[in-house]
Amino acid sequence: MKALVVGNGGREHALAWKLLQSEKVQEVFCVPGNGGTAQLDGCRNIAMSSLDFEGIARLSLVNNVGLIVIGPEVPLAAGMTDYLQNEGLKVFGPNRAGAQIESSKAWAKALMVEAGIPTAASQVFTSLEPAIAYVKDQGAPIVIKADGLAAGKGVTVAATVEEAIASLKDIFGGKFGDAGQQVVIEDCLVGQEASVLAVTDGLSIRPLLAAQDHKRIGEGDTGPNTGGMGAYAPAPVVTDALLDRIQRDILEPAIAALRQRGIDYRGVLYAGLMITPGGDPWVIEFNCRFGDPETQVILPLLETPLDQVLLACVEQRLAQLPPFTWTPGVATCVVAASGGYPDKFTKGHEITGLAAAEDSGAIVFHAGTRQQKGVPVTDGGRVLGVTAMGDTFQAAIAQTYAALDCIQFDGLYARRDIGHQMQAH
Ligand code: AMP
Ligand code: GLY
Repeated sequence: MKALVVGNGGREHALAWKLLQSEKVQEVFCVPGNGGTAQLDGCRNIAMSSLDFEGIARLSLVNNVGLIVIGPEVPLAAGMTDYLQNEGLKVFGPNRAGAQIESSKAWAKALMVEAGIPTAASQVFTSLEPAIAYVKDQGAPIVIKADGLAAGKGVTVAATVEEAIASLKDIFGGKFGDAGQQVVIEDCLVGQEASVLAVTDGLSIRPLLAAQDHKRIGEGDTGPNTGGMGAYAPAPVVTDALLDRIQRDILEPAIAALRQRGIDYRGVLYAGLMITPGGDPWVIEFNCRFGDPETQVILPLLETPLDQVLLACVEQRLAQLPPFTWTPGVATCVVAASGGYPDKFTKGHEITGLAAAEDSGAIVFHAGTRQQKGVPVTDGGRVLGVTAMGDTFQAAIAQTYAALDCIQFDGLYARRDIGHQMQAH
């Protein structure tokens, strides 16, 4: 079978890499892919926009592609799945209606409330004055969220009322464009965050290994939010008993509520959770896709061929699939970013030491890279994700950083504390 992966991040490199490990997958097209997928045996980058519905349909039909996996939320929210399905193609990733679970926080909140899914109390506002009045009434800390897609930057956890008001002014002032036409204001939850990515065919739903990512740029979880600076899996905070509860109280009700709305959801439902000190799981957000960099630690541990999992979802026979099997042990991933990220940074710096890093036993997933005259150069904020597996977190972390230390490019920045709190496990 030939497969096609839409996107150009570390997540998409991991998806293409894992698909190619399956006996049944001969070739993977990446649209547009990155410097890593360009070098992957069996993978071909296609220089086409990840929003070119027509181009992707044509490419898939001409090449008899048997499975399309859409990585990022933007094409999903724009209805790429609907378009490709209309062309008779098999697509993993929800349609436009389903993608609203990520593309509108207000919509997702309403669904959660309707389904009785535990989530922070909230209200939706469409103008500044009532929103300010609500914040003053509620007090801080409080969480302000632009409704629409804002590349992970639309949320402010405000420690003071002033900070909350400043954020409301930013959003209603147009900082996030149309994504800020509505604002969700919600109670602040405390606890440990975890990401549970589940695959679904719209009828049944199955969690993958729970993961945890590190969103902040700085060590000790300080500074601004980023797309994610590292991750580890499985997250010990999500015990088997807790995962059962998440399945029963969150994942299954979410799928039932989607179905009730007439939505045929086939793809990943990603639950961003807060595990409160009492051990209760609350939903912070839903995403309609694989997480990045969570995918870079989950997929290396997956033993079941990925194409089998994804096709079972697309063909609505997930319930018949035997339980997924996983490599024992853990995986950690550290992101090497361009200096200055998530603000301004420069691109085009040569990357060296990749072969040495891989020879040390790690997997180097590319994100913001491209090949320039046969040489990999930086091409984005998050440049690489270095993943290693081990029997313990201590071993995996040591191997991840040993591999990272083989790699150089001008301005390389990485957090040195990924998985730190897991050292004891
Ligand atoms: P999101 O874009 O919804 O993932 O939010 C980004 C980050 O904001 C999350 O990973 C949390 O760290 C934080 N956050 C969002 N909602 C809440 C909440 N209700 N309480 C505490 N922190 C939150
Ligand atoms: N790592 C966070 C996300 O993918 O949304």
